[in-house]
Amino acid sequence: MKNYKIAVLAGDGIGPEITREAIKVLKLIEERNDVSFELMPAAFGACAYFEFGDAFPQSTIDICDQADAILKGPIGLSHEQSKTIPIDKQPERGALLPMRRRYNTYANFRPVFLPKALAHFSPLKPEIIGEGIDIIMVRELVGGLYFGSKETGINEQGLRYVKETLEYDEHQISQILHQAFKLAQKRKKVLHNIHKSNVLKSSVLWNEILDEVAKEYPEVEVIHQLVDSAATNLCLKPTQFDVMVMENMFGDILSDQGGGILGSLGLMPSACIGDEKAYYEPSHGSAPDIAGKNIANPYSMIGSVAMMLENSFDMAAEAKNVWDAMQGVFGDGYSTADLSKPGSGVTMISTEQFGDKVVEKLRQMPRVSAA
Ligand code: IPM
Ligand code: MG
Repeated sequence: MKNYKIAVLAGDGIGPEITREAIKVLKLIEERNDVSFELMPAAFGACAYFEFGDAFPQSTIDICDQADAILKGPIGLSHEQSKTIPIDKQPERGALLPMRRRYNTYANFRPVFLPKALAHFSPLKPEIIGEGIDIIMVRELVGGLYFGSKETGINEQGLRYVKETLEYDEHQISQILHQAFKLAQKRKKVLHNIHKSNVLKSSVLWNEILDEVAKEYPEVEVIHQLVDSAATNLCLKPTQFDVMVMENMFGDILSDQGGGILGSLGLMPSACIGDEKAYYEPSHGSAPDIAGKNIANPYSMIGSVAMMLENSFDMAAEAKNVWDAMQGVFGDGYSTADLSKPGSGVTMISTEQFGDKVVEKLRQMPRVSAA
C-alpha cells in the first residue's frame, strides 16, 4: 500500500467549501485503491494572516515541506477587505508567490476543456465550439514581472513613480519550453508559442531560446502568435489551439480568458509543478461574494485532485475516472449556479450536491489499482 502525505490548504472565501468536496473524492479514491492519504490541513491565505499574522506561517511551511503534494484552495479577500492587511502581507504577495518561489513550481498547467455536449455552458456559439475545446495552457509561474524587483518613490520631478522589472534568464525560459514541448509531443504535436516580440525584449529572448529547444522536438510544429492576437483567437476560433505556452503574466490573463470561453472560472483547475514539489489549485480566486452559500462550483478543486493523482501519485487511470465522473454529472444535466442560468436547461445543484454526485458516479466506475 502506498502512503502519501497531502498538505490541504483550504484557503479563503469559497475555499473551504470546495475543498470539502475535493476531500470526499480523495476519501473514495482511498477506498477504491491500494493507497492511503494522510491529509494535513494547514492555514494559508488571509485566514492565516488573521490567525498568525502571516499568510504563509511557519507552521504551514513545515507541513508543506513534509508533504508529497499540496492541495491548495483559492485565497484572497475582496478589494475593500484586502486594505485591512498591509500590502506585503496580503495573501497573494504574502503567501501564494512565496509558495511558488519556495517550491520553484515553474510549470503551471491549466486545462481549458469543454466537450461538444456541454457547448451550452459557453458564451460562444455552438459552431465556434465545434467538436469541443481541449487546450492546455502552459504558464511559466515563477519569473517575469510577478517576481522581478520592485521600487516605488518620488522622482526628480516630485512625482510618485513605480518601477517593476521583467526578468528571465535562459534557463528559466528553456525549462518551461521543454515542459510545453514534451506535452505537445504527447498530444497533437502542435505548440502555440504566445509572445509579444514586436515590443518586448523578453519575448525576443524567449523566441530565440524556443528556436534552440525546438530542435530537440522535430515532430512538434510551432505556431507563433502575439499575445493580443491570441486573445482574439481564443474567442473567434479556440479550437485551433491544443498546447499554448507563455510567460507568467500572459498566462495569468489568458487562462482567465480560458475560463471565460468555457462559461465559468469554476471550470479551471491547475497543476503547479516544480522539479521537487508540486501543488494543485483552482486557477480562480476566492469569490468572497458567494462564500459560505454552498453555491460555488467545486469542479476546479476536484479537477486539481485529478491532476494531483496523475502527476504526483502516478494514478492516471483513476484521474481519468475523476474527470469522467465530473463530466458525467454535467452530462446528466446538473451543475452549480455559475453554469445553470435560467433558460439554460441545466438543473442547479449545490456545491455539496455536486460533490456527492461526483462521488456517486465514481463509485460506479470500474476500479483501477494504484500504480
Ligand atoms: C492565478 C491567480 C494568481 C496569479 C493571484 C492570486 C496572485 O490569479 O493563479 O492565476 O496572478 O498568479
Ligand atoms: Mg489569475
